[in-house]
Amino acid sequence: MDHIVIREAEIDDAEEMISYLNIVGGESDHLMHGAHGFQVPVEAVKRRIQASHDADNSIILIVLAGEKIIARAELYGYPEARLHHNAKFSISVRKDYWNRKIGTMLMTKILERARNMNLRNIELEVVADNQAAIALYRKMGFSDVGIYKNYWFANNVYRDAIIMQKRLDD
Ligand SMILES: CC(C)(COP(=O)(O)OP(=O)(O)OC[C@H]1O[C@@H](n2cnc3c(N)ncnc32)[C@H](O)[C@@H]1OP(=O)(O)O)[C@@H](O)C(=O)NCCC(=O)NCCS
Repeated sequence: MDHIVIREAEIDDAEEMISYLNIVGGESDHLMHGAHGFQVPVEAVKRRIQASHDADNSIILIVLAGEKIIARAELYGYPEARLHHNAKFSISVRKDYWNRKIGTMLMTKILERARNMNLRNIELEVVADNQAAIALYRKMGFSDVGIYKNYWFANNVYRDAIIMQKRLDD
């Protein structure tokens, strides 16, 4: 495999992150946007990265092969005081790199950071037919919490989403 680097996203990564999100969106039906569907201004992405630096319960990690982002994971910690110990998790990997344990490596790192940030719960939603993601999440200790019916709409079809949670205080 190419030499890869994993690190926290910096403000200067905003443009490459937008390119990445627009490519990866076209590589699966399981992300919130399709190809070229991430139309967020670069300044807003910079603010989001800065917010992840400023918050003590959020982080964005990226994986680079050379100059190119090939994977990204985010913990978005809730700002509200009474929810502050919870964070929402999301992840994607470029298709060329699937099934090479990059997702496993990113999740391992992010869980380590989550523990250091004293988070107690990590939550996510995953489309019910996303077998690879579900396998990864279960392997990393996430449990099913429930189902949102008809949560996802892509290619003219509504699909259920499984809600999953990992507790870090077990
Ligand atoms: C889900 C995703 C992040 C996984 O990344 P990855 O780097 O391929 O993950 P890994 O290689 O570390 O692990 C994938 C696991 O899924 C398993 N897997 C892959 N395809 C599978 C399938 N069709 N059915 C069941 N398990 C499958 C692999 O065997 C592996 O498990 P193992 O480590 O026990 O062998 C990646 O496929 C992706 O970005 N998909 C598109 C975006 C997406 O769905 N994001 C999640 C939204 S909730």
